[in-house]
Amino acid sequence: MTRPANLSDQPAVEALDAACFPKDTWSSSSWSDEFTRSDRRILVAERGALAGYVVLLVPPLEDEPVDLLRIAVDPAYRRTGVARELLEATLGDRTVLLEVAAGNAAAIGLYAGFGFEEISRRRGYYGGGEDAIIMRRAGEGQ
Ligand SMILES: CC(C)(COP(=O)(O)OP(=O)(O)OC[C@H]1O[C@@H](n2cnc3c(N)ncnc32)[C@H](O)[C@@H]1OP(=O)(O)O)[C@@H](O)C(=O)NCCC(=O)NCCS
Repeated sequence: MTRPANLSDQPAVEALDAACFPKDTWSSSSWSDEFTRSDRRILVAERGALAGYVVLLVPPLEDEPVDLLRIAVDPAYRRTGVARELLEATLGDRTVLLEVAAGNAAAIGLYAGFGFEEISRRRGYYGGGEDAIIMRRAGEGQ
């Protein structure tokens, strides 16, 4: 099941974030900010326990693109369609932008399956010289 997150999900989301992004874990105060900002949308996927989450920045102006800030799935549930379920529940008819490490084949495969295309690259953006790829999924009529 995928549903909007509520404040009581924050500890489990933080724990999953630490497991999935050990070098880039968002702090508790950052997560508190994410959970309370009016322009954020957080969805969680459950498989009994928390299995994944997605965080979006949704600007109030309809013609501005949505930013997909973060998506992660518990390693125990990967490749079982959790991320697909989260994106299906998330992506509407607005344009969506995201940034992904060039070596992240799982994420790039996921995004490509939803019609995201590379629009630019930031050379050596990440530590170790890895490129960042900016991907875009065009909204309806854009
Ligand atoms: C990327 C991630 C969210 C995918 O989650 P997931 O629940 O395993 O993905 P799904 O099972 O929904 O897979 C959907 C599709 O994505 C692609 N995909 C997923 N994992 C993949 C992998 N390891 N290699 C290649 N393609 C992959 C496939 O096209 C897959 O469809 P298929 O299983 O029918 O082939 C997950 O691997 C993860 O949490 N990674 C660590 C965090 C991260 O890198 N987040 C993205 C930061 S930009």
